[in-house]
Amino acid sequence: MRKPKTIAPPKGKLGVLTPGMGAVSTTFMAGVELVRRGQALPIGSLTQMGTIRLGKRTEGRSPRIKDFIALAKLEDMVFGGWDVFPDDAYEAASKSGVLEAKHLDVVKKFLSGIRPMKAAFDQNYVKNLQGTNVKKGKTKFDLAEQIKDDIRVFQKKSGAQRLVMVWCGSTEVYQTHQPVHRSVKEFERAMKENHSAIAPSMLYAYAAITSGVPFANGAPNLTADIPALLELAREHNVPLAGKDFKTGQTLLKTILSPGFKARMIGLNGWFSTNILGNRDGEVLDDPGSFKTKEESKLGVLDYILQPHLYPELYGKIHHKVRINYYPPRGDNKEGWDNIDIFGWLGYPMQIKVDFLCRDSILAAPIVLDLVLFMDLAHRAGLRGIQEWLSFYFKSPMCAPELYPEHDLFIQLMKLKNTLRWMTGEELITHLGAEYYD
Ligand SMILES: NC(=O)c1ccc[n+]([C@@H]2O[C@H](COP(=O)([O-])OP(=O)(O)OC[C@H]3O[C@@H](n4cnc5c(N)ncnc54)[C@H](O)[C@@H]3O)[C@@H](O)[C@H]2O)c1
Repeated sequence: MRKPKTIAPPKGKLGVLTPGMGAVSTTFMAGVELVRRGQALPIGSLTQMGTIRLGKRTEGRSPRIKDFIALAKLEDMVFGGWDVFPDDAYEAASKSGVLEAKHLDVVKKFLSGIRPMKAAFDQNYVKNLQGTNVKKGKTKFDLAEQIKDDIRVFQKKSGAQRLVMVWCGSTEVYQTHQPVHRSVKEFERAMKENHSAIAPSMLYAYAAITSGVPFANGAPNLTADIPALLELAREHNVPLAGKDFKTGQTLLKTILSPGFKARMIGLNGWFSTNILGNRDGEVLDDPGSFKTKEESKLGVLDYILQPHLYPELYGKIHHKVRINYYPPRGDNKEGWDNIDIFGWLGYPMQIKVDFLCRDSILAAPIVLDLVLFMDLAHRAGLRGIQEWLSFYFKSPMCAPELYPEHDLFIQLMKLKNTLRWMTGEELITHLGAEYYD
């Protein structure tokens, strides 16, 4: 990655497009509007609430990130999206049951004005959904062209100068790399031949990239994490990021497990189970979609604990993840973790975590930060995988020869150092030897 020479200023409106206007997307949109009306705080958002230390500890320079680097202003954001259901953002937010009437009533007019465009959808990829607001097209390539038209029309109507797309659609069935994902040529041919290895989410990613729009993936689907789309992103100078927003149980896992490793505490097993009753839970009730999520959730421990380096501590871990669809809970998930650890001389201990969390409340600030940072990356001329945004993902995308970095604290350091690097500030190594000369 070459250091940016200049960062273009964030002039004019920034259009945010979300394929999928369900719980996460509408909680994000409603939240941004409430914050700009001064009725709520953007809690959980690093771009809005976080600070960054610059220079030496003795200098006392720790501005808010949003005051340090030129990010788009919330006031300049405009929204659009696609969904397989025709509900506008107010109806969708009401049905998903995340925000209470005291919040939704205030932003009803704003949300009602955001109507979903017709989706590129195929039930083979999300078995438990059936919708009516769906595009028709002879081939997958036609559908991608229609999405590109939607992008153009949205940009014109909204007056947005720049756009960012964040996939907030359902989790698609599990897929691995196929030969048709290898190059742009093969990928385009496969779209024209309606090849089954081209999932709907890939059509949005293709449309975004070829329209010069940065693309982030909030679900665990393969989507843009294939050589063909990586190649295309480099060609079109478009930043990419993904996959799968890191919220809830996995967020805690990547907070706790680096702590165990730091203190050389052993781990025998980690059993995670969830009850979840929203539409996401219903989609994940299908084994194909669950497999995609499971793979994404299982990876983190191996990468953080590095059993090949510490076979005595982490060589025999039983790691299990379960998600149970349980409608009474709606979006208010409950995640239980039983963690079997061991200490000095091998004596066993247990930790139990019971996290009564709100999925979309944790995900919404991630969408906001990704929108602002992806727009920043684009204005700075960065293209391809933005590994510094791993902080936000369960399955961070990275170069093929690398392993992904999952440790939340390393991810945060990487993110902040990237901001320093982009602006010519000194990188912070935390060595601190200079204070003791
Ligand atoms: N909430 C979290 O904490 C969290 C964390 C990590 C990942 N995610 C992922 O984010 C995504 C959104 O989560 P959610 O809770 O908002 O789910 P949701 O079910 O409320 O919303 C997803 C929406 O996407 C729509 N959709 C599905 N396929 C589509 C397509 N091809 N085109 C357009 N729209 C399509 C669905 O109709 C639905 O309205 C899911 O994939 C979920 O797994 C959520």
